[in-house]
Amino acid sequence: MAFPTETVYGLGADALNPLAVAKIFALKERPTFDPLIVHIASFADMTLVADRPSKRALKLAEQFWPGPLTIVLPKSSAVPDLVTSGLPTVGIRMPDNEIALSLIRAAGCPIAAPSANKFGNLSPVCAVHVRKQLPDVDYILDGGQCSVGIESTIVSVNGDICTLLRPGKISIEDIDRALPGMFQFRIHSDDSIVAPGSLKSHYAPTKPLYLLGNKMRHLPSRSGLIVHRLGTDPPSCEKLLYTSHRNDLLEVAANLFSSLHAMEDDGRIDRIFIDTVPRAGLGVAIMDRISKAIYKYESNT
Ligand code: TXA
Ligand code: MG
Repeated sequence: MAFPTETVYGLGADALNPLAVAKIFALKERPTFDPLIVHIASFADMTLVADRPSKRALKLAEQFWPGPLTIVLPKSSAVPDLVTSGLPTVGIRMPDNEIALSLIRAAGCPIAAPSANKFGNLSPVCAVHVRKQLPDVDYILDGGQCSVGIESTIVSVNGDICTLLRPGKISIEDIDRALPGMFQFRIHSDDSIVAPGSLKSHYAPTKPLYLLGNKMRHLPSRSGLIVHRLGTDPPSCEKLLYTSHRNDLLEVAANLFSSLHAMEDDGRIDRIFIDTVPRAGLGVAIMDRISKAIYKYESNT
């Protein structure tokens, strides 16, 4: 079943049932080397899926859950290897969305869920986006538009080392501020993958997507343009969309995937240009998604 979370829609199955989990991989056409995040609705479930979580990990969870933070911890034997792609660790989060939490409680089990899209494509932030990419999914719980709009921050915790695996709304500065001195932080930058979500190309629309260059005054015909603030006198284009009128990064994140979907769905548009945001705060996560979304197109030019 597809369901809303505060970040993006997920495609969920009983995390403890390998047959159910296998259907997620099939429907998404997702390679089995890419592990799933396990969603829980209570702190008690953390000890069901993680193997003796450390005090630091528990503190981190208590501080930010429910919320858009996934914590990677040693897994318990209850979690099938398919969920974690054979890794000895499991990514866990408690979503900040009442529908998601009610679903997990009603199911009576933790729910493994990747984003409810085809592997590598745009992430879904409303029920229509899910239906577009996964027409065969049996049920979609429609919870309207996701409030955060980009996937959770992922960190792994090992002793006092907290490693950022995927940037999101919660930054390592936020963690350090909330739990001063508890962790030393690392950023996972190397390409030898612990986190296949760190593939270079991901989140890609079906139409070519490029960054808007500073000096671009004219775009080719049938171009769509996505910008993040008013008053920059953008080049003329077929369709202009604003994620925000004032570079408000919360608004940009919330509207990023919707504006890309709108361009992808518009028959007048053949290619999409998108402006950048400063790589600070939430801008790091936004530029992470944009860089991966353009990767396969930029590298062909
Ligand atoms: O916001 C989100 O996290 C959404 C909603 C549905 O909760 N889910 C999501 O799932 O983004 P997905 O499958 O698109 O991304 C899962 C990523 C993997 O690609 C991998 O990078 C990371 O989570 N991951 C999961 N388990 C991991 C593990 N044991 N070690 C390292 N990375 C892991
Ligand atoms: Mg995804």
